[in-house]
Amino acid sequence: MCCSGATTSRNRSCVFRQSFNRLTLKFQSNYVLLTEWSMIYGLANSKGGVGKTTIAVHLAAWLAKKKRTVVFIEADPQQSASNWIEELSLSIKLEQISDPEAIFRRVAKLAADADDIVIDGPAGLSPTTRSIMLCADRVFLPCGPSILDLDAAGKAIEVLTKAQKTRHGKPRGFLIPNKLQKRARLSREMLETAQTLGIKVLSGLSYRQSFADAPGQAKVVSQMGASAFLASHEMQSLMKEMTRA
Ligand SMILES: Nc1ncnc2c1ncn2[C@@H]1O[C@H](COP(=O)(O)OP(=O)(O)OP(=O)(O)O)[C@@H](O)[C@H]1O
Ligand SMILES: [Mg+2]
Repeated sequence: MCCSGATTSRNRSCVFRQSFNRLTLKFQSNYVLLTEWSMIYGLANSKGGVGKTTIAVHLAAWLAKKKRTVVFIEADPQQSASNWIEELSLSIKLEQISDPEAIFRRVAKLAADADDIVIDGPAGLSPTTRSIMLCADRVFLPCGPSILDLDAAGKAIEVLTKAQKTRHGKPRGFLIPNKLQKRARLSREMLETAQTLGIKVLSGLSYRQSFADAPGQAKVVSQMGASAFLASHEMQSLMKEMTRA
């Protein structure tokens, strides 16, 4: 019995394990419906403000511009991506679903028709984040250049590893260093430490005002003209890495 008379933290970890297993079983029964050719991308992390929404919206826009059929699932109850997606005037179907079991069910259905599904997760390691890890093909963990951000990413990697054990190696996990400042010591240290976390590290994004300005202009950086040239180039490289087979 895993929950008998233990300390609070043991009880918490036990409840976590039970709910993780329950979600896994539910997902496996739906998973057979998924088609092989749809790609499900999840953005997650235990920490807020690390760039999940920024990268998720740019990924959906990148795929839509490639004429793929894209569904964007806003799984964050804050719904900070929804307006931005709608204002882009690109062919991206938006769905707002934050209930973890509803995400399983919906993704299993959508995967039959959509080429790509992009799920923007909430901050934290809630059941919603875990359900993203249990239904995505690829999970990306954006991470800012601070030790606190790295610690948070480490916790998310633990949850990811559990999902991978349950799903025979899926989803593939990637860390995306974000808000890097080329000459800053913390950015350098962060990149070095990230390499030791046991997860593939992508080249990431620098700290650039254009990324922060994009939602206010209802654009992605590739639509912002010459002032966002470097941001656009950097985002394009990241998108290629994220979508590479
Ligand atoms: N590379 C970057 N350079 C500058 N600003 C950035 C960069 N990436 C993200 N930002 C800004 O940082 C803030 C947080 O980004 P974002 O909303 O994408 O993070 P999030 O992880 O989705 O946050 P939350 O957990 O609250 O949903 C936003 O104001 C965004 O514009
Ligand atoms: Mg967000």
